[in-house]
Amino acid sequence: MEIDILTLFPEIALAPLGESIIKRAREAGIVAIRAHNLRDWATDKHRRTDDYLCGGGQGMLMLPGPLFDAIGELKRPDTTVILMTPQGKPFKQAVARELAEKGGHLLIVCGHYEGVDHRVIEQLIDLELSIGDYVLTNGAIAAAVVTDAIVRLLPGALGDARSPEDESFSDPKMLEAPAYTKPADFRGLKVPEVLLSGHHAKITEWKKQKALERTRANRPDLLED
Ligand code: ADE
Repeated sequence: MEIDILTLFPEIALAPLGESIIKRAREAGIVAIRAHNLRDWATDKHRRTDDYLCGGGQGMLMLPGPLFDAIGELKRPDTTVILMTPQGKPFKQAVARELAEKGGHLLIVCGHYEGVDHRVIEQLIDLELSIGDYVLTNGAIAAAVVTDAIVRLLPGALGDARSPEDESFSDPKMLEAPAYTKPADFRGLKVPEVLLSGHHAKITEWKKQKALERTRANRPDLLED
């Protein structure tokens, strides 16, 4: 898979993608990740990429010119062009899975300031994605989140021993049960006995019950239907 990120802050997008699992996936040739500075497609002497809103309103908007030129240059016939924006469709595990399975080429465009000129969205964007109901200063952070979530699902990225199958959101209606490691008694805090019993049916039942309690407490919205 190949992922190109178009942003005013390439270092911010790439920093979290240069360590650990994603670093190894890149080195193993499972994915190629590149970041491009949108300013390189600015045409005036100040390398301007934003301007005031038509009709008034606070803040600045990204100009269509540099975005049309950059996307035109980076896009290929197999490219899915994604815009990171708080106005986008919620980015969920199911979306990450779809994009990982589709593979090919992603071009992730990062919104900055108050967003991008709507003609860019109408003409060039296949999918608008939001990583949550809050506003970041910088779409490059959101692009790194989306890239990380997709790349770890690519075959081979997690290595043989680990599987993305039995974690929270592989079943999108339930969070994971609490988990414990050694020691069995840490400063008087005990690991639940059932987990040390070796009784697999009881352990499975306990995990189901605890996952349900946790989901009820933290994410009741998942249980609504
Ligand atoms: N840019 C700023 N906030 C964002 C969000 N919540 N999701 C995606 N892109 C963003």
